[in-house]
Amino acid sequence: MQGIHSMKNVIDILDIKVSRTPQSRLESTDFENLPFGRVFSDHMFTADFEDGEWKNFQILPYGNIEISPAASALHYGQAIFEGIKAYKQADGRISIFRPYKNLERFNISAQRMAMPIIPEEIFMQGMQQLLEMDRDWVPSQEGYSLYIRPVMFATDPILGVHASSNYKFVILIGPVGVYYAKPLKVKIETHYTRAVEGGVGYAKTAGNYASSLLPTKLAQQEGFDQLIWTDAKEHAYIEESGTTNVMFVINDTLITPSTRDSILDGVTRHSILDLARSWGMPVEERRVTVTEVIEAAQNGTLQDAFGAGTAATIAHIAEITYEGKKYTLPEPSSRAFSNKALQALKEIRYGLVPDPFGWNHLI
Ligand code: COI
Repeated sequence: MQGIHSMKNVIDILDIKVSRTPQSRLESTDFENLPFGRVFSDHMFTADFEDGEWKNFQILPYGNIEISPAASALHYGQAIFEGIKAYKQADGRISIFRPYKNLERFNISAQRMAMPIIPEEIFMQGMQQLLEMDRDWVPSQEGYSLYIRPVMFATDPILGVHASSNYKFVILIGPVGVYYAKPLKVKIETHYTRAVEGGVGYAKTAGNYASSLLPTKLAQQEGFDQLIWTDAKEHAYIEESGTTNVMFVINDTLITPSTRDSILDGVTRHSILDLARSWGMPVEERRVTVTEVIEAAQNGTLQDAFGAGTAATIAHIAEITYEGKKYTLPEPSSRAFSNKALQALKEIRYGLVPDPFGWNHLI
């Protein structure tokens, strides 16, 4: 079998130029107070795509990057990213959760956005060496992790509308705690759309997040935390929730929208489906109608509903509002499936139990 590990032997060792920060910020960082995405470690990894190839591999102190105000990413949005988490295990080792899945998706996003793909050795060795240098930034408290954010953006200083010839790839890392502090009140969105058939919904590209901001802000002004996105044509099918995939348990069956070009193919989504199947739970990946979810909420068969994503892990949905009517779901702490899945993910990630699926990439 030609597995990832046998392929690794033929992969080049990257020549990474390292310059260390003279002054670590580690001691002055409050690890008890880590709002998502605000704290970054001492270093970052960068690479440039120029003259048709990736070059200038560097680990350098985390800081601002100089780009032209004409850089095409700023104007035309050629920008993609990923979200990955690393955990400190009880024996001090660091495990990155399923990074090859994110590499695969990063390159799917790159292809859709007419950007160059990133070779495995750059993505993996850049990430690993950065984590090794900043390993003391990986939190050890339960519920905390190190968030890894690879990002690629177009840097051609040209206003003509075409795919850029030059790109920058950066990996940022920073310690994080929980993303959502409490269960979510969500509204099923029936006017705005996150993604359309034939569009870029399956790509993790900046514009998808930009276009979600106004509808989300409007919903928040109405007292909701997040939206449930529906299909663009009819607003009849459920697609995602906020920045995550969405899952329901109805009559003891785990149901989630099947992936398509308007839905992001989430790594947490895959992992939860694998867990459910391994427990013998019936799983349905298919189109999910708004009507069936609302009917299940009305007749008491909607046992669980939650968002599934890297940053949020499992985000319980407490209430769903549809066409002005609010449906209160079972108390999150009483939900059998999502709490079991959350616990199982935690135990695997922190190395508290064996890793039957081979998800942990230990460095
Ligand atoms: C993630 O879950 O990693 C995401 O990318 C969602 C959001 C923080 C943008």
